[in-house]
Amino acid sequence: MPEPIDLAAFPHDFAWGTATAAYQIEGAVAEDGRSPSIWDTFSHTPGKVAGDDNGDVACDHYHRWREDIALMQQLGTNAYRLSVAWPRILPGGDGTVNAKGLDFYDALIDGLLKAGITPSVTVYHWDLPQVLQDRGGWPERDTAERFAAYASVVAERLGDRVHHWTTLNEPLCSAWIGHLEGLMAPGLTDLTAAIRASYHLLLGHGLATQAIRAAAPGAQVGIVNNLSTVQAVTERPEDIAAAHRMDGHTNRWWLDPVHGRGFPTDMREVYGVELPEYAGDLETIAQPLDWLGLNYYFPATVADDPKGPAPYARQVRRPGVPRTGMDWEIDATGIETLLLRLTHEYGARKLYVTENGSAFPDVVRPDGTIDDPERTEYLVQHLAACASAARKGAPLAGYYAWSLLDNFEWAYGYDKRFGLVHVDYRTQVRTIKGSGHRYADIIHSHRGHGRRAA
Ligand code: IFM
Repeated sequence: MPEPIDLAAFPHDFAWGTATAAYQIEGAVAEDGRSPSIWDTFSHTPGKVAGDDNGDVACDHYHRWREDIALMQQLGTNAYRLSVAWPRILPGGDGTVNAKGLDFYDALIDGLLKAGITPSVTVYHWDLPQVLQDRGGWPERDTAERFAAYASVVAERLGDRVHHWTTLNEPLCSAWIGHLEGLMAPGLTDLTAAIRASYHLLLGHGLATQAIRAAAPGAQVGIVNNLSTVQAVTERPEDIAAAHRMDGHTNRWWLDPVHGRGFPTDMREVYGVELPEYAGDLETIAQPLDWLGLNYYFPATVADDPKGPAPYARQVRRPGVPRTGMDWEIDATGIETLLLRLTHEYGARKLYVTENGSAFPDVVRPDGTIDDPERTEYLVQHLAACASAARKGAPLAGYYAWSLLDNFEWAYGYDKRFGLVHVDYRTQVRTIKGSGHRYADIIHSHRGHGRRAA
């Protein structure tokens, strides 16, 4: 069968990666001086996570990272996106550095480099130390400053070998889902807290960008957002306005400030909450970026919802559209549209797809293999759409599949499996799924097809 992905559209030095996050895979939550994060608290609160699952053990990656690097090698990947756990590095949130926490990441980075895999380090993937939550968390300005201090510690230690840095992963989830919808840690449903959190997350991004660059000159720093294409369910003016609000809530609120455009005025009116602005903050937030990361999973179709929560727009189901095991719509055209939007509307000079993937229930066959045609198809469709965006001029430098391993899927617990590698949580046995083998074949085929840099 001819390859449906135009692999020659990708540059020859394309980053072929997988991605994970600390709390979702590491386990070892009480080892070597780590303190609890807001996710330990949240997941140990009955009823917050499906099946009352938690990240206590997860994939036991803290002890099995060597085996996991070997899996990356088997997949043929040349890049790996990981996150560092703040409560391992600074168990008190700030102040005394926990040497053992840093040692873990130090060894992991060395192991990756030895295996020919370039690490891409995310400083914050949602695991705020609980002690900082007790002091007010992201709604407080101090958290942004503590975050920059933490970023500096990490960059000082790893910056001689790590050149690719992400400040925040999906600040939308931290602010909106964690503080407005209450479905993620810290589990608040307070619009004012959510707006303040969003502001301080982005301020923290700006401060951390400066701190990383100071500690590791030459560092390539970016931010990772989960974006969606948004369309109105009907042509009614109310639905069109709702779609514009949802675009503001999901996309523009996160993109505009880091590109020096400030917080969108229309959304400030929609929220009606005063921002905790200080002189100079907007400039700090708008540090020049070396690259932008896109996490793409699904599109949004919305209807006006004046009585609902901000942004007063609700997602509706499009009949007949295929869905993943998360009940998320599958539409690969969205990834192409967003890559081109970031290129043309925001002038991105370098882009990465920092996450993309799908959860489906997996069946382990009697011979131990896992065939996952739906996940494989999702992967191929989205890579084809990425290639199409690259052909049309999107400066796409890499793709990180979410995820290397099945893992703790936040409020959904362990039921939702995103991995290219299956994890048997009873035995911790890892098995590469059909989608993982297909990814390896794609990566292999790309060698020999890649576009030479101009
Ligand atoms: O598992 C998450 C990840 O932590 C952040 N992006 C979306 C993934 C799938 O829900």
